[in-house]
Amino acid sequence: MSRVGRPNDDIADRHELVRRFGRKPSNRDFERQFRVRRFAGPLAHTTQLEHLRIVHLTDIHVGRVTPMEAQLEAVRITNEAKPDAVVMTGDFVCHSHAYLDELTYVIQAIDAPVFGVLGNHDHWSGAAEVRWALQRAGNFELLDNVWTTITLRHQRLQVLGLDDAYTGHARWREATKGLDADVATLGLSHIAEMADPLWSKGVPLVLAGHTHAGQITVAKLHELAVGKLAGHKYVHGLYGKRRHDDPATAPGAVYVGAGVGAAVVPLRIGERSRREVTIFELGHEPGSFAEPLEEQAPLPGRKPSRKTRLKREQAVERKRLKRERAALVQVGDRDE
Ligand SMILES: [Fe+2]
Repeated sequence: MSRVGRPNDDIADRHELVRRFGRKPSNRDFERQFRVRRFAGPLAHTTQLEHLRIVHLTDIHVGRVTPMEAQLEAVRITNEAKPDAVVMTGDFVCHSHAYLDELTYVIQAIDAPVFGVLGNHDHWSGAAEVRWALQRAGNFELLDNVWTTITLRHQRLQVLGLDDAYTGHARWREATKGLDADVATLGLSHIAEMADPLWSKGVPLVLAGHTHAGQITVAKLHELAVGKLAGHKYVHGLYGKRRHDDPATAPGAVYVGAGVGAAVVPLRIGERSRREVTIFELGHEPGSFAEPLEEQAPLPGRKPSRKTRLKREQAVERKRLKRERAALVQVGDRDE
């Protein structure tokens, strides 16, 4: 049965969830799996903001493949950073609705307002149900091809969110309409390549996910798998320029986070592929403190063909029909 339309249901008791998933979140095993990376924001923000600390989390994939301890460790690190806001760039779930209570629980455990966009796995699993699970957390705002202005410690920030481009839901023209060029802007997109049109509309920094940094980053295997085979220009880390003082260079930057979870294979091998929590100090000038990764040049990339795009769009509908058939079989089994 669809759970949409029941936003006031009590979520499962927190203590019950902790009991079900076991150990305290800060155990050493999970601590060691994470990398916390800290970067300055774009130069454009330095005249628009004093300072805002934003934590970026992506691809948490709450579900069977990613242990709940990893989710809770990501939240613990996030809360310890004391961010003004948290942004999340999609793939909240894996393949089903089986863990929506846990998803709500993870979001509620974040001690800050949270803004986010959906990813391909959220559309594959049922976007309406994922939206419902996020919104009932009470501290989450989903940005579906829209922007919103928030005020944090008396500073205004426009947060723009694109729906998922992989499944054909991103509408960048619609999403950028009416942006105020005088207010600092931060873009969110599951697919990093959508940064290109957003830069042209005056969004100087876009945060993204989807690639999981390739999950295996030894011997540059991630660049082969995500870059060459999957055709991504942006695989992991910073691309473009946060200072656009040179008109010949790209007018913006994109950061692709390595993510917290996985949807299929839990394996993460190599330093760059570790689970990641990323901190952005918006309003601080690039170069004003040491950063763990340098700005990189994009890979050549390859745009998906019309046929591929169509196949990806059709996959959402095919999976929805499959879910509905499975639900009918379940009802039938109960009635017999
Ligand atoms: Fe993902």
